Amino acid sequence: MVEKSFQLFPEQASTIAAHVDALYAFLVLVSAFFSLLIAFLVVYLAVKYRHRPELGPPVAHHTNDHGPGSMILEIVWTVIPLGLSMIMFAWGASIYFTESRPPADSMEIYVTGKQWMWKIQHMEGAREINELHIPINRDIKLTMTSEDVIHDFYVPAFRTKSDVLPGKYTTEWFKPTKLGAYHIFCAEYCGTKHSGMIGTVYVMTEAEYNNWLGAGSGEGSMAEQGQSLFNQLGCGNCHPSVVNNQNGRCPNLVGLFGTRVQLKDGADVRADESYIRESVLYPQSKIVAGYDDIMPTFKGLITEDGMLKLIEYIKSMGTKNGALSTATPLPVETSTSSNPSTHPANTAQGKTAPRGAPVAPAAPQPRVQQ
Ligand code: CUA
Repeated sequence: MVEKSFQLFPEQASTIAAHVDALYAFLVLVSAFFSLLIAFLVVYLAVKYRHRPELGPPVAHHTNDHGPGSMILEIVWTVIPLGLSMIMFAWGASIYFTESRPPADSMEIYVTGKQWMWKIQHMEGAREINELHIPINRDIKLTMTSEDVIHDFYVPAFRTKSDVLPGKYTTEWFKPTKLGAYHIFCAEYCGTKHSGMIGTVYVMTEAEYNNWLGAGSGEGSMAEQGQSLFNQLGCGNCHPSVVNNQNGRCPNLVGLFGTRVQLKDGADVRADESYIRESVLYPQSKIVAGYDDIMPTFKGLITEDGMLKLIEYIKSMGTKNGALSTATPLPVETSTSSNPSTHPANTAQGKTAPRGAPVAPAAPQPRVQQ
């Protein structure tokens, strides 16, 4: 719980917590055993072989001859430390892999860090600041980004943390196993009020959580909010968001998410959150095969929160409308985003604008405040 007297360890409130603690205990025990053993031997041997005047001056034996040594001794003190360190490596790697691979059916929640607060968005539309409400016994996957510098989302009771980086999405997942309230810390020094960049995770029963969600913002789900943003920004003027509608200028976005996209330069790339983000902000960087470099950048026109909503909307196109399989042959259809959207008024500019340069958008594009 959040308010509590001194504890050596935080509570174990996620499925991974006990595993992390067991590995940590093993490391401490091995270190303690060898530290004590060595300290004991230093003292014991110093006393046992101390200089005794009655035995006369010390005599040097075999100073240049180490003799045959003991093969068995050499093997023992090589193999035991090797074995111990390999156990640590394999054990640590296995926990690391578990922590870095969110289960496929995880519940998704979006986190945006900024100096100095955590902004959290639930798919259903609820938003919160410095608080995270989640249901117990569900796999929760956080998709995180930063509006400014590097932060790090750390929940000690879940024994998990992950850097939150500007310009990139990182993930973190956990499965809470205990009801209660737990600390969130920022675990990366991020400026004056880094130490105040804290919050609370509330682990609730499924019913309580649904109640809490129901009392939410009333602004619609993230995908719905993403859709209105999509329309406000004029994305739909070029990118078809209906199956089989191909206007030839811009890739169809239906069923795009999660597929592999063939690029003009021959490479292919997975259409994930980072790809969509890059395609909106730096359209020139990855051009879809079969399309021209005509999309203007939306840098400065969309906030990180807004970007996450757009991504949710694009994800929802994939599932709602049954995706892509009905679509066409590769290059052109692979449905893809990233590129050229012929903004009619704007084509020439879009082509020549340097990466990241603000480009006058075609349609009136109000600055969107999230
Ligand atoms: Cu954010 Cu430290």
